[in-house]
Amino acid sequence: MAYEIATIPGDGIGPEVVDAALPLFEDAADAAGFSFETDRFDWGSERYVEEGAMMPDDGLDRLESYDSILLGAVGHPEVPDHVTLHGLLLPIRKGFDQGICKRPSVLFDGIESPLRGYEGGDIDFVVYRENTEGEYADVGGREHLGFDNDVAVQSGVFTRDATERIVRAAFDAAAEREGKVTSITKSNAQAHSMVFWDDIVEEIGEEYPDIEVERLLVDAASMDFIRRPEEFDVVVASNLFGDILTDIGAIVTGSMGLAPSANVNPDGEYPSMFEPVHGSAPDIVGKGVANPLATVLSGSMLFEHLGEQAAADALWDAVTDQVADPDAPRTPDLGGEAATEDVVADLRDRLSV
Ligand code: NAD
Ligand code: IPM
Ligand code: MN
Repeated sequence: MAYEIATIPGDGIGPEVVDAALPLFEDAADAAGFSFETDRFDWGSERYVEEGAMMPDDGLDRLESYDSILLGAVGHPEVPDHVTLHGLLLPIRKGFDQGICKRPSVLFDGIESPLRGYEGGDIDFVVYRENTEGEYADVGGREHLGFDNDVAVQSGVFTRDATERIVRAAFDAAAEREGKVTSITKSNAQAHSMVFWDDIVEEIGEEYPDIEVERLLVDAASMDFIRRPEEFDVVVASNLFGDILTDIGAIVTGSMGLAPSANVNPDGEYPSMFEPVHGSAPDIVGKGVANPLATVLSGSMLFEHLGEQAAADALWDAVTDQVADPDAPRTPDLGGEAATEDVVADLRDRLSV
């Protein structure tokens, strides 16, 4: 069976990492005995500059029939970020109801954490980030109040459906892992949304008596991601808190260039989307040194989502094997001098299904 995968390389280093990783994905699929076809959508900030829109009006309709979407990154130094992100990435997550964002943070053997005393295997958690609403709901406005005062309101929206869905997904994941859920809120200050979130965690937690539940306020959690990252298993958080915490998760496990993510539409009505956690990295664009491993691991999550576990494992294992080898090529973010292409060429040699 041939899967149909839409690719949206996007901006900055997005095309560099997506174009580099695709031949490796083909190798993995070939070896596992299936194939996929890709259609490339050159949507992004250059299109915005030329045509006034990040994607066509019927962009979501054109993506809807694909089995999955692989995205690089979105964001351009010369176009405001709220324009680019609200024009492409966020409408896909929301429009395709990709309510479950899974972001693993794994410290691999051979990778140096900036934290003292941590070695490969010491850190292994996954953040379940609510991905369609919360602080990212496009509800608010900005007004001039007269005289010299203005006001801006940005509301957070938390529905029972979406909150229960992400919390339940986190408990289900914990049941398959180490049996612990850490719920992140700011319910000391945000007495509406976050107390609602706490109540839902408590209700759903009663259905999972064997799962240990920990609650942390997001400020303390930010500290504990650095002080004791080894104690986390599954972390569940709102859209904004999950966004912030997963950058911390990426760096304590070595680099933004290593952190993958899955944006999952849980009922399978729409395609899910896979992308590195990082952005378009304008500071290194065009140098050919972007780390492709976050995209490779996102490809592993894509294959796993399609049920192609052998190909998913092959990609994950090739990365594990490469970073453990002190003689393997590494991009500068991991302390090496290798180019994006060298890293992928080496992975193709290591791939075994
Ligand atoms: P960023 O993730 O692009 O970069 C942060 C730092 O990490 C930079 O120093 C960068 O060089 C480094 N880095 C990121 N990915 C790397 C890789 N693969 N290899 C090596 N180094 C890597 O975050 P930013 O600088 O805050 O944002 C840049 C732009 O990207 C902005 O427009 C932002 O809105 C956008 N952004 C998009 C996404 C996305 O598309 N999902 C995610 C984050 C940021
Ligand atoms: C991410 C990014 C996006 C987010 C931005 C670019 C809108 O930071 O995927 O982590 O906040 O979700
Ligand atoms: Mn982010």
